[in-house]
Amino acid sequence: MRMVDLIEKKRDGQVLTDEEIQFIISGYTKGDIPDYQMSAFLMTIFYKDMTDEEITTLTLAMANSGEMIDLSSIKGIKVDKHSTGGVGDTTTLILAPLVASVGASVAKMSGRGLGYTGGTLDKLEAIPGFHVEIPDAEFIRFVNESHVAVIGQSGDLAPADKKLYALRDVTATVNSIPLIASSIMSKKIAAGADAIVLDVTTGEGAFMKNIDEARRLAETMVRIGHLANRQTMAVISDMSQPLGEAIGNSLEVVEAIETLQGKGPEDLLEMCYILGSQMVVLAKKATTLDDAREMLKEALESGKALEKFREMIRNQGGDDTIIDAPERLLTAKYQIELPAQTSGVVQKLVANEIGIAAMLLGAGRATKEDEVDHAVGIKLHKKVGMAVSSGESLLTIYSNSDSIDHVKELLYKNIEIGSSGTEPELIHDIITA
Ligand code: URA
Ligand code: CA
Repeated sequence: MRMVDLIEKKRDGQVLTDEEIQFIISGYTKGDIPDYQMSAFLMTIFYKDMTDEEITTLTLAMANSGEMIDLSSIKGIKVDKHSTGGVGDTTTLILAPLVASVGASVAKMSGRGLGYTGGTLDKLEAIPGFHVEIPDAEFIRFVNESHVAVIGQSGDLAPADKKLYALRDVTATVNSIPLIASSIMSKKIAAGADAIVLDVTTGEGAFMKNIDEARRLAETMVRIGHLANRQTMAVISDMSQPLGEAIGNSLEVVEAIETLQGKGPEDLLEMCYILGSQMVVLAKKATTLDDAREMLKEALESGKALEKFREMIRNQGGDDTIIDAPERLLTAKYQIELPAQTSGVVQKLVANEIGIAAMLLGAGRATKEDEVDHAVGIKLHKKVGMAVSSGESLLTIYSNSDSIDHVKELLYKNIEIGSSGTEPELIHDIITA
């Protein structure tokens, strides 16, 4: 087989066989196929698309390119959750202990943040002492004993995706449904969970800017999951404005604790109940979504879920006393208010731009090598649909520098105040088998 013939075949819109796709992925992972041929091939996929069968074969080939984690020594159904990316998306910090507290096993492999999307690992590392790099055996023990653990993605998980993602990033081929679906699902399948809940975000803060594209991505991933024998479902959620009120690592840990104490933002809590109910049903701990929601509500209101978070922090070496004094995490030197310049109703809080503002403060990374400042970020006081009067604070900036005029300017440019505005729908659709 020659790579040039396969590029030509896809260029002309033909369907590749399983053997051809496996040849390409194994050849590229080993270094036999050079970047320039792979770049051309990625561009043919971008324009000519792939059939469901092709995407499934591609995904499994990528999953099999490295370590396939075996979680079979953990009793029961292991459930994972994945978001396609958001701003201020604190859900995993809440969901992992919440769902575990009703007896479902959450074996979660997470990533770091890049660009305007935050990463769960960075957030957890805002807790003093918390380790995310733990050996597989310990990870399995924690899930067996406590029903929950969150670890960093192992170095050898889906190496084909690591190489391909870096190439896509510099060849304008990130935004392709077959490539995004195979990238995400190859890692989820290699990570070993039996059931997967996908949160496919849509809006300015997401890969998929509109609902139809998000639906197609969700349907594609759900289909791949089923073909790979994993129970999979997807929620299409709104990411036109940030989720909850906190954006930034320590601020989001505090927000998670407050939510588990029943004092968190309503949209964030609702999102956790929606995703959590699906996880509990997939884990067969409840038969209906309504029953699952009741169980989660009871766990949250009784404090059981918060105690599970304490246990998870303690297991992974973190200082669990922050549960009782979360404000200790807020160590930024300056807290600066951003006053509204006019009166009216908030119409827009452009999620990705607000994410970039938090990144400029140091909460995120512009490049993979950047260090994250856990203490900094943004706390929103006004969300879309809320009334505001001139001079009232729109948000508080937590910063370690007092020269942040560029950040304020970016924020003002991306917060629209007008005569009317309505809160967006949180969930646009739910995709099951
Ligand atoms: N997240 C991934 O892991 N891969 C993509 O291609 C897009 C989002
Ligand atoms: Ca948040």
